[in-house]
Amino acid sequence: MEIDRRAFFAGLGGVAAVAAMADEAKAEALEHHMMLQLNVANQTSPAAKFPTAAEVEAEIETRPTRRGTGNLFVSRAGNVKKLPPLPERPTLVDFYKLRFMATSTHCLQSANRAVQNGMSEEIVLACLLHDTVQDLIKVDHGWWGAQMYEPYVSEKVSFAIRYHQALRFYEDKEHGYEYPDLYRRMFGSDYKPEPYIEATYKMVRNHKWYLEPRMVTVNDLYAFDPNVNPALDQFLDIIGRNFKQPKEGLGFDNSPVAHMWRSIARPDSPL
Ligand SMILES: [Fe+2]
Ligand SMILES: [Fe+2]
Repeated sequence: MEIDRRAFFAGLGGVAAVAAMADEAKAEALEHHMMLQLNVANQTSPAAKFPTAAEVEAEIETRPTRRGTGNLFVSRAGNVKKLPPLPERPTLVDFYKLRFMATSTHCLQSANRAVQNGMSEEIVLACLLHDTVQDLIKVDHGWWGAQMYEPYVSEKVSFAIRYHQALRFYEDKEHGYEYPDLYRRMFGSDYKPEPYIEATYKMVRNHKWYLEPRMVTVNDLYAFDPNVNPALDQFLDIIGRNFKQPKEGLGFDNSPVAHMWRSIARPDSPL
């Protein structure tokens, strides 16, 4: 595909802004830009801003990988790279720095926004963790993510992570959530969530903890912002108070989800 470099750089805030971006962020931005162009090229009507759900579905067979695949298992440009080794007893911070490369900036930006909006520590932690499982797997990431974190966080935090996935599709302007354009692009302009998502939404909408996952969606970022790069260090106290780090290390504590952490630690193991 032809890339209009000027348009691409301008969309990211200019050449200097692009130069300051990490390689992974650049690759992500480029993919997003190409996805947009592809969508525009595929549209039947040039006036339409977003593809239809049918057009999105037609793109399945144009890709070498499925859209639900975890980021760690796919390279956006060229071949995959060797991963740095993790310490013997890896902590959440080790995973964050050495494995959550594709999701960390987005999650840090969301957590940073949650702090600025005066959210509770549990919501800030939920924002910090909410999409990290997408490095392992993307499909149904709310459920996968909640399961992976469940042994180590409070019930409210895992509730927020699990259900942010369903709430994203439903507006709640009263609490500051509008349906994002990004989803019109990703799922199609006429996309209808699956019945299980609709049923989950109805359940959560009436739950006493509704605002926990809702606030994850409110503080989620749907636009790429190259100018905000919060550091993990500012969240170390919140992690220390709210994340029960197993002394054996994540992946080695015999918890029911230890294999998920090992899969992130060793994604190159063939079986
Ligand atoms: Fe998410
Ligand atoms: Fe997100």
